[in-house]
Amino acid sequence: MLLSQAAPDCQPHTQDFLNQEHGLLIDGSWVAAVSGEKFEVKNPANGQVIAMVAEGDQADVDRAVAAARKAFEGGPWPQMTASQRGKLIWKLADLLEENLEEFAELESLDNGKPRVVAAAADVPLAVDLFRYMAGWTTKIEGSTIPISVPYMPGAEFHSYTHREPVGVVGQIIPWNFPLLMAAWKLGPALATGCTVVLKVAEETPMSALRLGQLIQEAGFPNGVVNIITGFGETAGAALAAHADVDKVAFTGSTEVGKLIVKAAGESNLKKVTLELGGKSPNIVLPDADLSVAIPGAANAIFFNHGQCCCAGSRLFVHRSQFDEVVDGIAAAASEIQVGPGMHPDSQMGPMVSQIQQDRVCGYLESGLREGAQAVVGGHRTEGDGFFVEPTVLVNTESQMQVIQEEIFGPVVAAVAYEDPADLIQSANDSIYGLAAAVWTRDISKGHQFAKKLRAGSVWVNCYNVFDAALPFGGFKQSGWGREMGREAIDLYTETKAVTLQL
Ligand code: NAI
Ligand code: MG
Repeated sequence: MLLSQAAPDCQPHTQDFLNQEHGLLIDGSWVAAVSGEKFEVKNPANGQVIAMVAEGDQADVDRAVAAARKAFEGGPWPQMTASQRGKLIWKLADLLEENLEEFAELESLDNGKPRVVAAAADVPLAVDLFRYMAGWTTKIEGSTIPISVPYMPGAEFHSYTHREPVGVVGQIIPWNFPLLMAAWKLGPALATGCTVVLKVAEETPMSALRLGQLIQEAGFPNGVVNIITGFGETAGAALAAHADVDKVAFTGSTEVGKLIVKAAGESNLKKVTLELGGKSPNIVLPDADLSVAIPGAANAIFFNHGQCCCAGSRLFVHRSQFDEVVDGIAAAASEIQVGPGMHPDSQMGPMVSQIQQDRVCGYLESGLREGAQAVVGGHRTEGDGFFVEPTVLVNTESQMQVIQEEIFGPVVAAVAYEDPADLIQSANDSIYGLAAAVWTRDISKGHQFAKKLRAGSVWVNCYNVFDAALPFGGFKQSGWGREMGREAIDLYTETKAVTLQL
C-alpha cells in the first residue's frame, strides 16, 4: 500500500542542524576537507538535497590518524581511569537519549527509514549499546596463570595477563543503520581505551556528525574520536591502508571486506574485523505455529526494507504448508504502508539511494527472467523516491542469483522442501553464514537446528532480536570477529603476558 508522498517537516532544530556548515571532526575541531570539496546528502524519499558535507580523502585521513595517535599516546585519555572512561561513555548515552527525537528524524531523512522505527529501535539500541559498553570499562580483566617451565627446574614465577587497548582504530561503517553502526563500533573502542577514526557511509553521514557534537559535549578529550565524511574508494581505502592504524573494523559488502583485508596485508598487517553480507535461511518446520511464523517471516525480510545484513531472505517452507505461508506473507507484504520515512504511518521507506534501488530491481529482473514468479511486488514504484515494492518470489532454483546473492532489499525467495532431512544442507548452501532462524514447537528440534546451522546468530521462534550483550557476526564469508558483547571487548584489546621470576 503506497502512502501519499507528502510528509511532515522535521522539527526546527533538526532543520537547523542540517543547515549548518558540516566539517570533519579532527582533533576536537570541525574542519573543512584539505581539498575544500563538499558533497550532497540526499533524502531518499524524494531525492532532495538535505545537507552538504565535507568530502574527506587521504589528506584528511592522515590528519585524523595523527590526531588519534597523539590522543592515544599522550594527554588526558590514557591517564583516565577505567571508571572515568565509563562515566564519559554513559554521559554520551544520556545525551543521545535526550536527543532521541532529533536522531530519529535525522535517520529518517538521511537513510529513508520510518522515523517511528528509528525512534523505537535504532536510537534506543544505540543508547543501550553505549551503556552496556560503559559498564565494561571496569571489568576488562586478565588472569593469573601458573606456569611450569621445564628447562628452569626450581625457578618460581608469577605470571599474569593484562588486556591493553589495541591502539588507533579505523572504523568504516555502512548506511543501513547509520547511528547504530557508529555505536557498535565506537562503544567497544572507547570502553577499552582505543582512539578512533570513524569513516561514515557517504549515503548517510548526518547522525554520526550530530553524534560527534555530543561526543564533544560529553567531554571526550580531543582526538579520541575523529569523524571523516567521504567516499569509500578514497577516504575509506586510505584508512584501511594507513600504516599507523592498528586495527580496522569494517561493516559492509563482502567485496569491499576483501579489499580491506588486502590493504591491511599490504600495509602494516593491522588487525581486521569484518561484518559482511548474508543470505540468511529462515526455516518453517511443519510443526511451527504459523500464526507466529508467518508474521515473523515477514518481519525477517521486510524490517528495514530488507537492508539488513541478517535479513531472512531465503525462506524454507514444507510443501504441504507452502501456499498457506506464502499467501500469508504476501498478504502481510501488501498491507505494509510504504512511504516517506517522515510520514507518521509509514512502515517501510525507500531504498537508501538510487543505486540501491537499481541494484535491488536488477535482482528482481534477473530472477523473473530466469523463471521466478513474484506473488506480490516485483517492481520499483513510480515517483521521485527510491521505493521498491515488498516482494515475495516463488519458483526459484538454487543456482539463481536471487537465491545465491545478497539482494539487500525487501525481497524474499520462498523455497518449498519435501524432506526436512535435507534442510540443513540446503540452508547451509551459501557462501555466507551470518544468521539463520527456525520456527518449531519442538524444543529439541529447535536446539538441533541451532547446532547444525552454520551461522553467527540463530533465532528460534523469533527473528532480528539484538542486544548489546549478544555477540553478532558471521561464519564463512559473512565476516571475521564479532560485534557487541564481551567478544567485541576482546577484539579491541591486545593480551600481554607478564612474567616475573620470584
Ligand atoms: P560498501 O561495502 O561499498 O560500503 C560500506 C562502507 O564501505 C561505506 O562506508 C563505504 O564508503 C566504504 N567503502 C566502499 N569502498 C571502500 C573501499 N574500497 N575501501 C574502504 N572502504 C570502502 O557497500 P555498498 O556499496 O553501499 O552496498 C553494496 C552492497 O553491500 C549492498 O547491496 C549489500 O549487499 C552490501 N552491504 C552490506 C552491509 C552489511 O551490513 N553487512 C551494509 C551495506 C552494504
Ligand atoms: Mg560500494
